Amino acid sequence: MRAEADPNLIVYFASEFMPLREAKVGILTHALHYGTGVFEGIRGHWDDADQQLYVLRPAEHYERWKHNCGILHIEVPASTEALCEITLELMRRNEFRTNVYVRPLAYKSAERVGVVPDEQNAFAIVALPFGDYLHAEKGLHAGVSAWRRVEDNAIPARAKICGAYVNSALASDEARRCGFDEAILLDEDGHVAEGSTCNLFMVRKGALVTPPVYGNVLEGITRDMVMQLAERELGVCTAERPIDRSELYVCDELFFTGTAVGIAPVVRVDHRPVKDGAIGAITRAIQMLYVDATHGRLDQYRTWLMPVYEPHDGAEPNTDLPVEQAVR
Ligand SMILES: Cc1ncc(COP(=O)(O)O)c(C=O)c1O
Repeated sequence: MRAEADPNLIVYFASEFMPLREAKVGILTHALHYGTGVFEGIRGHWDDADQQLYVLRPAEHYERWKHNCGILHIEVPASTEALCEITLELMRRNEFRTNVYVRPLAYKSAERVGVVPDEQNAFAIVALPFGDYLHAEKGLHAGVSAWRRVEDNAIPARAKICGAYVNSALASDEARRCGFDEAILLDEDGHVAEGSTCNLFMVRKGALVTPPVYGNVLEGITRDMVMQLAERELGVCTAERPIDRSELYVCDELFFTGTAVGIAPVVRVDHRPVKDGAIGAITRAIQMLYVDATHGRLDQYRTWLMPVYEPHDGAEPNTDLPVEQAVR
């Protein structure tokens, strides 16, 4: 899915809330030419029964973002708490009563030519209504990409560095042109790394397997939730180990995980069915647990969620919070 944004959407830019149409950067902005930005992706899930919008683990996302910005020497001056509050305030000001995707972006903002970065940084946060990123109801057909995943010593895949997403764009474009729903990228060693915007799990002999964090993957927050849910609720452990390409062809189940994709089953790889070509039982169970946990239906995972609206207030916007003060 592509989310086209309404120009009247309220966004956070240059330390202010303003309409999207007013949030502009100059043509010489460093990040635009050299990819020197770091972004995040955070989900908010609307629950009709609770009349509530639950933002999923925003503090963990902002912590990851701030750490990864450090790789590019980008300082985000706001605290994690202030960033979470700005995010909730964006939801309220936009009066969202639907599923939402939040896109924080920090970047080298100097407007000049020359690749050497300086200390001029900026950040923005945009939140927009967002449905399914991949239409995975019947399971996806994934193709192993001819492009290799970026190496840690070239551009670290563990950070969502803007320039590194050329790698993801090349692979996902190739996959779609070849008739696949999504790409699977191998690393330079030939082991499975991840999808273009998602981590990957397979099931073999009743256990989950996913590439390790040193395997040129993003250290996914959904990946972490899946491992916790599988172990605690299903008694299924995860081995973090390299995966051979050919294991994709002989595994029992396969699925992608990510903020945008959620839990997306893969039922064919490179024109070969995964097992019998149907969505597997463990994948289904994890999908259901994930939906319940992210919609506030499992008490033990409520700590993952930050509700946007006052309970029992419905979705009435609450604009009293002094957010501007919190981030100055
Ligand atoms: C390359 C890549 N891998 C994995 C993920 C999944 O990470 P998370 O679960 O934190 O969204 C993403 C998410 O955007 C990604 O871009």
